[in-house]
Amino acid sequence: MINLLKKKNLWNTLFRTLDLLNTNKKRLSHYNFGRKYLGYVTHHVGPTANTSIQNNRLLTVGECVHLLTTSFECEGVTEARCSAEYIIAHALGQKTLCTVPRNQLLIEPVISRISHYAELRRRKLPVQYVIGEWDFKDLTLTCSPPVFIPRPETEELVDYALSDPVVQEATCMLEVGSGTGAISIYLLTQLPQLMVTAVEISREACELTSQNARNYNLEDRLNIINTTFKKGISLNDIRLEKKVDVLISNPPYIPHQVIQHLQAEVTMFEDHRALDGGQDGLYIIRNILQMAAQLIKSEGSLWLEVDQSHPRMIEHIVNSVPSLNLHYVKTYDDFYSSPRFCHLKVNPEEKV
Ligand SMILES: C[S@@+](CC[C@H](N)C(=O)[O-])C[C@H]1O[C@@H](n2cnc3c(N)ncnc32)[C@H](O)[C@@H]1O
Repeated sequence: MINLLKKKNLWNTLFRTLDLLNTNKKRLSHYNFGRKYLGYVTHHVGPTANTSIQNNRLLTVGECVHLLTTSFECEGVTEARCSAEYIIAHALGQKTLCTVPRNQLLIEPVISRISHYAELRRRKLPVQYVIGEWDFKDLTLTCSPPVFIPRPETEELVDYALSDPVVQEATCMLEVGSGTGAISIYLLTQLPQLMVTAVEISREACELTSQNARNYNLEDRLNIINTTFKKGISLNDIRLEKKVDVLISNPPYIPHQVIQHLQAEVTMFEDHRALDGGQDGLYIIRNILQMAAQLIKSEGSLWLEVDQSHPRMIEHIVNSVPSLNLHYVKTYDDFYSSPRFCHLKVNPEEKV
């Protein structure tokens, strides 16, 4: 009897908003490329199926996806369907529902887990933190709050960087702001000769970078320094004996005033130090430009992910401040055709 009551409560929690349903609701469909993209398009569909919780039989996976999605939509949870699918997959011990039959029946321990994860999601915890991991390229990285969740556009940054002959032959790279370690760890998996030093202000992020590196047996090739990257930082401060071939960074670049307008999921749970780029978003970027020629070898590369308003400003800074000893190579666009990635190089040494 107690078990029956418990079960009923769980279902009630899960589907408590079902009675708010009405017909012709706006529903969401999503792009599902593995487990990376949480981008959605909205469109209208016909009447919502009238599923009843009085029905005492076990629910199928398909029914649960539908009910949980609807429940999330009613409660204003963003990316409702995707969240529901990842939560159910995770509760089943799967990465996605791709290989799970939609008519599979859900049994009790799974229902409890779904109910628990759903409650966290309702409190706006990003689904990546709910399930505790996220994919970046072919890596699966452990994710936990408040460490910045890797974004799909950063996959483009590493692809563009890998097309650079300097990166392909690099033996020594510096990353500013490693977060989960996505950029450094991926490049280490692609370039067997590479050693990386990652400078990271957040202790939690350093721990996560370290844990993710260990998961891929890369800890011997990644040196993580928990310090603040700032003007005046020396090779000695970051335990480097010589200048690096490449500096890469997806720094905080969101203008300070914009932060408050971001999704609640971001502002409530992600470390603002990972987002806030100061008044114009260029605070850390200016420090990187200032220090680049002291840290990167002559003719070495600097790769940055930035806001779309930044490439022209960065090009202007570099062209108008010759003492930076940098030249602007090229801007690359993201998949929305926005200019987002900057490639710069340190000037060749002058021959005497
Ligand atoms: C936008 S996140 C990028 C994280 C990761 N590289 C990625 O692409 O997923 C920026 C990272 O820089 C770190 N950070 C911010 N300011 C820093 C500073 N002055 N020195 C070192 N790290 C910093 C933040 O803690 C955060 O982990």
